[in-house]
Amino acid sequence: MQFTVAIDGPAAAGKGTISREVAAHFGFAHLDTGLLYRAVGHRTLEAGRGVIDPVMAEELAKRLSPDDLDETKLRTPMVARAASRVAAMPEVRKALVAFQKDFARRKGGAVLDGRDIGTVICPEAEVKLFVTASNTVRAERRFQELIAKGTDTTIEQVLSDLEARDARDSERDTAPLAQAADALLLDTTELSIDAAVAEAVACIQKRIEQGRP
Ligand code: CDP
Repeated sequence: MQFTVAIDGPAAAGKGTISREVAAHFGFAHLDTGLLYRAVGHRTLEAGRGVIDPVMAEELAKRLSPDDLDETKLRTPMVARAASRVAAMPEVRKALVAFQKDFARRKGGAVLDGRDIGTVICPEAEVKLFVTASNTVRAERRFQELIAKGTDTTIEQVLSDLEARDARDSERDTAPLAQAADALLLDTTELSIDAAVAEAVACIQKRIEQGRP
């Protein structure tokens, strides 16, 4: 069976947790596409000793391998900023399209989360969700994640990083962050993660049943 769930939304809205839980519930494979951009951003920073060069970013995006997706190095504020800068480069995005499209159509079902999955990568996805939450709730969640890992930061810094990244992601010319017209909006500002997952699961279940003869 081929079945694609596209989950988009701004930073720290809850996409990652919802995607992982939905994938586990239905036995689908999960791809966090943000990790691809984080890996390219990280490798580009390393190669340029802190400077992001677009030619280098494109080259590294073309050569990205699963070994580059080690999450522990990629979940830092510096890498998040670098990710959103390389993600605005059309050549970088182009280099990552085929891998994402192939993943989406693998047998057994797939969940992809990111910014442009329902709009650009999988416009034909069987289910599209757009997950969001207020800026302050998202900043608080990301702040808690970062301090739990021992990162030295403040809530003000996290909020300003998040707003700068959302602006760059929404205003870029190529594949900006946007809700697809046919996506279900899931606002998690006042929803527990369990309630958000339950809504997502119900929506996917309904779509699976519609597809049965
Ligand atoms: O975890 P968080 O929501 O903070 O970010 P992420 O999903 O890991 O994505 C990091 C960055 O990659 C984003 O700010 C975007 O600039 C970029 N990205 C993108 O442009 N397109 C995607 N499909 C996924 C991520």
